[in-house]
Amino acid sequence: MPKLVIEGGKSLKGEIKLQGAKNSVLPILAATILSEEESVIHGCPNLSDVAITVEILNFLGCKTKFEGESLIINPKNINKNKIPEMYMRKMRSSIIFLGALISRMGCAEISLPGGCELGPRPLDLHFSGLRQLGMISEESHGKIKCNVGRGLVGNNIVLSFPSVGATENLILSAVKAKGETIITNAAREPEIQDLANYLNKCGAKIRGAGEGTIKIEGVDRLQGAHYSIIPDRIAAITYMAATAVTSGDILINRVYPEHLSSVIPIFEECGCIIEIFDKGKLRLIAPERLLSNAVIRTMPYPGFPTDAQPPIMTMLCAAEGSSIIIENIFESRYKHVGELLRLGADIKVEGRTAIVNGVKRLSGADVRAEDLRGAAALVVAGLCAEGTTKISGLRHIDRGYEDIEGNLCKIGANIKRI
Ligand code: EPZ
Repeated sequence: MPKLVIEGGKSLKGEIKLQGAKNSVLPILAATILSEEESVIHGCPNLSDVAITVEILNFLGCKTKFEGESLIINPKNINKNKIPEMYMRKMRSSIIFLGALISRMGCAEISLPGGCELGPRPLDLHFSGLRQLGMISEESHGKIKCNVGRGLVGNNIVLSFPSVGATENLILSAVKAKGETIITNAAREPEIQDLANYLNKCGAKIRGAGEGTIKIEGVDRLQGAHYSIIPDRIAAITYMAATAVTSGDILINRVYPEHLSSVIPIFEECGCIIEIFDKGKLRLIAPERLLSNAVIRTMPYPGFPTDAQPPIMTMLCAAEGSSIIIENIFESRYKHVGELLRLGADIKVEGRTAIVNGVKRLSGADVRAEDLRGAAALVVAGLCAEGTTKISGLRHIDRGYEDIEGNLCKIGANIKRI
């Protein structure tokens, strides 16, 4: 089984070119099937989640072709309306095809994606919202057959929680529904704005994406578009945490500082210097020793992102002082804690709260990744731990980080995949 082997203690110095955002490209690739014309998505990251999404597009009947970091999708000859169970299980976020499929095909058959490492991932907000747009669904034996009856009709929908996936599914179904849709308490993540920007380039009429209320005027048809994906803010935070724990100094190109506004203060409170240059360059200079007495609550955007919690927890483990993390978004997003304890961390978890007491030095050990961002937390830990850290469970990390060992080697890390 492949592992990452890291010799800790090397200071990270140099420049990182940031990958395209995983959580942007997945819904945008699903959105390409809303038109019959070709789209070209630039800055498409080389991730296993992207590979699965491309497999789904091909299964549905699209023609897809990579040209470097650009993915060309021709959705003209889609001839299927179902997502096989193996895809729904391989990648839970394939639920995002539901909204696009019922809009394009008028019907869809999917299987429930099941839970994942972060706990049960209910879809009640997706289904209650889509039903308000006219979708009819019946569930049996873990499969859900959906259709749109006489067609999707715009409506006023209030989300009880600003769910990212539910907001995306509603946008995908509403852009060609009859009349206007208003989504209140919509998710405000940058990836929602990216999806809306792509769809508006295709001729959709979406206003307010990135704010709490999104208004969508249904249109009859959409054309294709060329579109560049925004950089991955969670990957940026991960490389920043890796630099912070190794007293390093890195420059990250192509980053949107406003996407990091709730996390930059945490780095600065720990003693890092953050310099932001025009045209999206960010430099992080770390101190010899991190200090932290942070209280971090994960919240929907623009609050502290839950996806940043694991790598930032590792940074707090290596800082002098005690910090508190409250994970408000997912039920069980502390699977990495057990593995960090094996590396000598001092963390106490009580329900959704983790108390992190910084230690002088983590020490290398064999650890196992259980989920994507937990894997990132272990890589950050290995980079600063004394001695050798071996990380297994690499399928998790390859879902969301493009060539993580290559990127880290380029800035001085001693890391290899065996
Ligand atoms: C997206 O997941 C991201 N995934 C997640 O990133 C991210 O952690 C999450 O948003 C929050 O920012 C993609 O974009 C592919 P949610 P999603 O719906 O859409 C509950 C990563 O590491 N909920 O906002 O599934 C849900 O259980 C991944 O890149 C309902 O109760 O997130 C969770 O507790 C992990 N009912 C909370 O809302 C619903 O119908 C947030 O879920 C839907 C969600």
